[in-house]
Amino acid sequence: RFSNNGAGVAVDGMSSFAFAFDIDGVLLRSSTLIPGASEALKYLHDNNIPFILLTNGGGKHESTRVVELSKKLGVPLTEENFVQSHTPFKQLVEGDESESLKDKTILVTGGDGNKCRNIAEMYGFKNVVTPGDILVSYPSIWPFNQSFSEHYINNARPLPRSVDYENPSTSLKIDAVFVFNSPRDWALDSQIILDLLLSKDGVLGTYSQKNGDSSLPNNGWLQDCQPKLFFSNPDLFWATNHHLPRIGQGGFQASLQGVWDATTGGATLDKTIIGKPHAATYKYAERVLNKHRTQLLGGEGEHKKVIRLNRVFMVGDNPESDIRGANEFKSSHGAEWSSILVKTGVYREGTKPAYEPTVIVDDVMEAVKWGLQEEG
Ligand code: G3P
Ligand code: MG
Repeated sequence: RFSNNGAGVAVDGMSSFAFAFDIDGVLLRSSTLIPGASEALKYLHDNNIPFILLTNGGGKHESTRVVELSKKLGVPLTEENFVQSHTPFKQLVEGDESESLKDKTILVTGGDGNKCRNIAEMYGFKNVVTPGDILVSYPSIWPFNQSFSEHYINNARPLPRSVDYENPSTSLKIDAVFVFNSPRDWALDSQIILDLLLSKDGVLGTYSQKNGDSSLPNNGWLQDCQPKLFFSNPDLFWATNHHLPRIGQGGFQASLQGVWDATTGGATLDKTIIGKPHAATYKYAERVLNKHRTQLLGGEGEHKKVIRLNRVFMVGDNPESDIRGANEFKSSHGAEWSSILVKTGVYREGTKPAYEPTVIVDDVMEAVKWGLQEEG
C-alpha cells in the first residue's frame, strides 16, 4: 500500500484514516504561512487522503474564507472540508418552528463591521441586531460612545423595533445573544449583554432582579428554558504573528463572567459554548469529515464502497482546545481520534502540556509524516 517518494510515504488505494488540522499556530500565524503547511496539505490532497480544517477562528463566511485559504495554501479547499468556530450555529436555524431560532431576534457581536451579522443572515437568521445598531438608536445606553461613533454610524442599521422599555409589549425584544467572533468593543458589548441578562424577557431598559437572585419571583429573561447566551470559541489565548499568544474570545467570556459575578454576587449564568475542545464541535466536525471523505473516496457518481473511517489525526497547537478536544471526544462512528501537538503555535516547547497529546512533533509536516507512518 505504501511506496517511498520525496515526502516520505505515499498511500495508494483507500485510506481508513484522515486528518483534521487546526489553522492558527499550525498552518498560519495571522496571515503568514507556517513552513511546511502548504506542502503537507498538498501531499495529502495529491494522495487522496481526506482532511478537514477545524478552527476556532471565524469572522468571515466559510465560502469567503475557503477561497482565501485555498489561494494561500495552494490546495483546493471547499466548505465541505472546512469548519470554523461558528459554523455549527447553522444547525440552530434548521428544524421546525418550535426549535429553530431562525425567526427569533438575535443580538450578534464580534468581528469587524457587519461581517458577523452577514454570516448569521447567510446561515438563515432573519432578525439580526448588533450592539452598534442599539447604540446608534439608543446612545444613552453607553456613555463612552464618542470614540467609536463614526464606526458605528457607518455600520448600523435601524432597529426592527424601537427600544421602549415603558411599553415592553411593543419594544424591541432580544431572544438570544451570539458571540460569533472576538468582540472589538468589549465595553459596549459587555454593557448591552449585561443589560439583557438582567432584563425582563430580553427587553432592553427593563430590570429583573430575578436573573441575579433566585429567591425572587420568576420574571427574568434567563428563567425560561431557552438558552440565551451563545459563544463560538473558548480560546483564552491563540497564536498570531506576535511572538506571544494573544487573548482570544475566551478572554471576553471571562471578562463578562467577571462583570456578571460582581453584579449578582455569583449567580448562575448559563452559557452555551461551542468550539474546540467541546464535544459538540468535534461531533459536528466528524460528520463533516465523514461526508467529505465519502464523496472524495467514493468517486463522483461511481458510489464505490468506502471503508469505515478508523482513525483521525487531530493536528493542533493548543493543548487546551485541539489536544483536549481530540483526547476526550468519543466518536459515535467508532473512529479513534489521536492528538498531535505541534511547536509552532501556543504550546511552548519544553513545558508539560496541560493535556497530554498522543505525540509532540515540530510542525505540521512532521505531524503528517507521523500519522502516515502510524498507518503504514
Ligand atoms: O480566533 C482564532 C483562535 O481562537 C484560534 O484559532 O485556528 O487555532 O483554532 P485556531
Ligand atoms: Mg491553533
